Amino acid sequence: MIKLENIERRYISDEVETTALVGVNLDVAEGEFLAIMGPSGCGKSTLLNTLGTIDRPTSGHYWFADTDLAAMAEKDLARFRAARLGFVFQSFNLIDELTIEENIALGLAYRKDVSGNKADRVAAAMDTVGIAHRARHFPHQLSGGQQQRAAIARAIVGDPKLILADEPTGNLDTANGEQVMDILSALNASGATIVMVTHSPSHADMAKRRIDMLDGRIVASAMRAI
Ligand SMILES: Nc1ncnc2c1ncn2[C@@H]1O[C@H](COP(=O)(O)OP(=O)(O)OP(=O)(O)O)[C@@H](O)[C@H]1O
Ligand SMILES: [Mg+2]
Repeated sequence: MIKLENIERRYISDEVETTALVGVNLDVAEGEFLAIMGPSGCGKSTLLNTLGTIDRPTSGHYWFADTDLAAMAEKDLARFRAARLGFVFQSFNLIDELTIEENIALGLAYRKDVSGNKADRVAAAMDTVGIAHRARHFPHQLSGGQQQRAAIARAIVGDPKLILADEPTGNLDTANGEQVMDILSALNASGATIVMVTHSPSHADMAKRRIDMLDGRIVASAMRAI
């Protein structure tokens, strides 16, 4: 489904040049659950944001199906993101002024092509993550675990091809972290393709494959032992 070819990402600011990704090649097949690990600053978020087209590589190709996204115009990328991708962040990124169901509905906001009733889809997404009883609450009235489950509902409500999660359990205690991992595993079991950055070896073990990064490179790739 996805192929990164020789991706490089350099940041240049005030004559300081940082190379965040070097010679990154990566294939992600449909239905995979891939964990990305590595020390702070090694390029994990840059790689995830590249997959999410939030960050554009300095050079290289990003094939999604048969399209090279590295060469696509920003306007088309925005449409692509809205239709195909779902994002989950460490800090939830819910909008404080909107209720939980309104936040989740934002996952459909830029979609003109979704089938079915939008309210039904929001309700179904809330059921999937067990947050329906908090639909009319605001984010600050929810626990961290509940907020992250709501954020996952927002990510999946549009039925994305690919779910990208950057340290989704990073701000959660053990019990809530496990719950989020169980939800991601269930989504993967029902067909979702997931790429997740994590610092937790046990959470990485719940993925089907793990890659390790160091200094902007992928240095190891291993399938989970079954
Ligand atoms: N906007 C930016 N401008 C300049 N350098 C950046 C920028 N964003 C990231 N970098 C640099 O790119 C490198 C990779 O950063 P990245 O955020 O991908 O690391 P990470 O592996 O996600 O780390 P962490 O585990 O701390 O989240 C770092 O050296 C970082 O300082
Ligand atoms: Mg990061």
